[in-house]
Amino acid sequence: MPDITDTTWWRSAAIYQVYPRSFADANGDGTGDLPGITGHLDHIANLGMDAIWISPFYPSPQRDGGYDVADYRNVAPQYGTLDDFDDLVHRAHELDLRVIVDLVPNHCSDQHADFQAALAAAPGSPEREKFIFRDGLGDDGTTPPNDWQSMFEGSAWTRITEPDGSLGQWYLHLFDTSQPDWNWDNPAVRADFEKTLRFWLDRDVDGFRVDVCDAMIKAKGLPNWPYRTKGVVEPVDGVTPPMWDQEGIHEIFHQWRAVLDSYEGVRILCAEAWLPPQRTARIVREGEMHQAFNFAYLEQLWNAADIRATIDTSLAANDAVGAPTTWVLSNHDVMRHASRYGYDGPVELESGVGANDPQPNRELGLRRARAATALMLALPGSAYLYQGEELGLPEVTTLPDEVLDDPVWERSGHVTRGRDGCRVPLPWQQAGSTFGFNSTEAATWLPQPDYFGQYAVDAQTGVAGSTLELYRAALTLRRELNLGAGEMRWAADAAANVLAFTRGDLHVVANVGGEPVALPQGAEVLLATADLEAGSVPADTTVWYRA
Ligand code: NOJ
Repeated sequence: MPDITDTTWWRSAAIYQVYPRSFADANGDGTGDLPGITGHLDHIANLGMDAIWISPFYPSPQRDGGYDVADYRNVAPQYGTLDDFDDLVHRAHELDLRVIVDLVPNHCSDQHADFQAALAAAPGSPEREKFIFRDGLGDDGTTPPNDWQSMFEGSAWTRITEPDGSLGQWYLHLFDTSQPDWNWDNPAVRADFEKTLRFWLDRDVDGFRVDVCDAMIKAKGLPNWPYRTKGVVEPVDGVTPPMWDQEGIHEIFHQWRAVLDSYEGVRILCAEAWLPPQRTARIVREGEMHQAFNFAYLEQLWNAADIRATIDTSLAANDAVGAPTTWVLSNHDVMRHASRYGYDGPVELESGVGANDPQPNRELGLRRARAATALMLALPGSAYLYQGEELGLPEVTTLPDEVLDDPVWERSGHVTRGRDGCRVPLPWQQAGSTFGFNSTEAATWLPQPDYFGQYAVDAQTGVAGSTLELYRAALTLRRELNLGAGEMRWAADAAANVLAFTRGDLHVVANVGGEPVALPQGAEVLLATADLEAGSVPADTTVWYRA
């Protein structure tokens, strides 16, 4: 059982992201489910993880992979029941794994009862006031209320048909049409989300990952903003986009923190906000959230100077507010880092890759990904890892058009392929038509490529040098040496395109494509992501050693 007197667990935790649709399928319908997760928790515990974060498993039409929530306080039938959820938490806690669930407060599904009630009610009614409805512009209201763009392309507004059959108001959706934004200026919305927090806290969850938390408050008057944001949000000509990073978000985080703090042990809030480190640090100030994803780190190319600069900026920004820094390289929204690093030069993180696009170099990508992960796991702070990266899974680039599920594919008029390539169901076994994803061999909801078998868990277990064993070794050492806590010191004499630092008596050298780096005579190597060459750390390799 996790130690409830440990108040600092989250500061250094290694947290494994489970994308439930694609993790493991116990009922054999081709889609992952909660019993599938419970049945494989030992895999995560054996890796040396401290916690899991589960992406949404709530009732949902799945227009955006469950980030379109129709009922915040239940489990979708395809994923199981609330009892299954309780079993999952119980088993995780037995294995000393804490459980973080996803909270999606910026928007819900258009099938949510409150949105359906809003559609049935009149303009200006309390039901409509829970969302952001506005009249259109022009004499006949055919022009959207402003020029905001959806994150999934196209306008961020959809016009409804009023109950009497006439064309009516427009509602705001920063994401898909089916994801109306809540009106967080409305106390009724706040009260309902507090109920949701308490519902899951009462079921003993250890925290929440908070989806697009920086978009919950919009600038007064909804001023025009013609840009579509991609990646980390920066002000344009000194102006903060009116839908991101508004001051009003912090009051909400304070309110939530008070709720979490009223529970036994330390339950945490982790911010999903694609902001620069200096801005995410404001979300983790005293009394607000505990930690925030470090997307600036995820966005760095395989280049030592840029990575070092981001590490320094991130640590400085978080140290200034007394919060731990977090690190992340992959998640369900971006191209897996084993493929991202298989390109030289900038990569469109969320755009997807098709069979006819330039393909990543799989071997180089994996080699660099292993080095990048060993670098990340040596940094002080908390680390987030995404299911399948411990297998070295590449992005699947061969998905046929007709199976693409990401809403951006349709909204972009079949231009942007989207994020399905990192969401393909996991291979657990080399054998079988679904590689052990289920036992019925029912087709997986996204097809697995033939080569997935070579990455399967059973193909790598106990195999020296496999990516799975590398992750195990790194996470075990990280825990033994308490690397998540404490400070790092850069070595004074690192060569070009090399990152070198110490963590106490541990030395870390990440050769990010530089000349081979000779280790001192008699160095005791604790971890190496590739073979040393004549006692030197070759390019695209990270080594942990004691001098
Ligand atoms: C961020 C989630 O990670 C992503 O998958 C989702 O599409 C958007 N937020 C909207 O909820």
